[in-house]
Amino acid sequence: MKKITIVGAGRVGESAAQILANDEQAHEVVLIDIREGIARGTALDVQESATLFGFDTKITGDEDPSAMEGSDIVVITAGVPRKPGMSRSDVLDTNLQVINAIGADIVRYASDAIIMVVTNPVDVMTYALWKKTGWSRNRVFGLSGVLDAARMASFIAMETGFSIKDVTAIVLGGHGDSMVPMTRYTTINGISIDNFLDADSIERIVDRTRNGGAEILALKKTSSANDSPAAAVATMVDAVCNDRKRILPCVAVLDGEYGQRDIAIGVPVVLGHSGMERVIELKLTDEEARLFDQSALQVSKDIASLSV
Ligand SMILES: NC(=O)c1ccc[n+]([C@@H]2O[C@H](COP(=O)([O-])OP(=O)(O)OC[C@H]3O[C@@H](n4cnc5c(N)ncnc54)[C@H](O)[C@@H]3O)[C@@H](O)[C@H]2O)c1
Repeated sequence: MKKITIVGAGRVGESAAQILANDEQAHEVVLIDIREGIARGTALDVQESATLFGFDTKITGDEDPSAMEGSDIVVITAGVPRKPGMSRSDVLDTNLQVINAIGADIVRYASDAIIMVVTNPVDVMTYALWKKTGWSRNRVFGLSGVLDAARMASFIAMETGFSIKDVTAIVLGGHGDSMVPMTRYTTINGISIDNFLDADSIERIVDRTRNGGAEILALKKTSSANDSPAAAVATMVDAVCNDRKRILPCVAVLDGEYGQRDIAIGVPVVLGHSGMERVIELKLTDEEARLFDQSALQVSKDIASLSV
């Protein structure tokens, strides 16, 4: 029996609420948004699908942040998404203000919650929120690799024609152009992808993964991806609510792992009932380590520009 609050009833927030309700991940899902009526209207819309999908989850909406009181999990999807041609870092200043305000609300109203950050640039926002709350890193983590790996798996299934159910992909690093799709750890039912794809095809998939968000944004023009990010949120919520101990790539605050500290960046972690339970440290090749360090440098530069 969980209470899950989603702050930001925009496209990702709405899709996430619908999936969490359909899956009955919580007895109550609360949507909060500063735009008058949006959260209440969205909640009512999702609630009215209950009989059709057959779920008992109660969905409510509010402008008042106190509605998150007593939440077990708070998912943050509030902020501005980027527009075509913008990088995730271009929305940093605006979204930092949003994250700081929400962080203060969470500390006040939901001090026992686990926080999942979705707002971009997600590595920097996760770090800022972790600092703002002063909480253990286990309780503050972000969405990146679950989505990026899902995109990579989709592209591999599309190129090979094999079932997506057999594809396992992993992506590390910052959730931006510098992300590190780990082809060496990506398999089709345990078989390395280079048994099925030549080097050029793999490189094409890696590039498409790095630009997965931008590809959708360029096509949709007025909004960025929402269905696959929401499905990724639901996967992470499921791992926590059901204490699954899943190994998933998430944005985690590092404390010496991968030679990094005082940074939040995408790495494989164990997700269970206490949140980000531990970081899994992979042995990287020299080239993988170089790419990871390069990605960490980019995230660190953005973090250094924060006054947190
Ligand atoms: N980490 C990821 O993998 C990932 C994937 C997709 C989207 N995102 C990010 O998620 C965020 C949301 O994307 P979207 O497409 O849903 O955007 P959206 O514009 O549809 O929704 C954002 C909502 O946040 C609300 N909001 C703004 N400030 C708020 C505040 N202080 N309190 C409460 N609500 C507030 C807005 O009113 C709006 O309804 C963006 O930053 C986007 O870049 C991240």
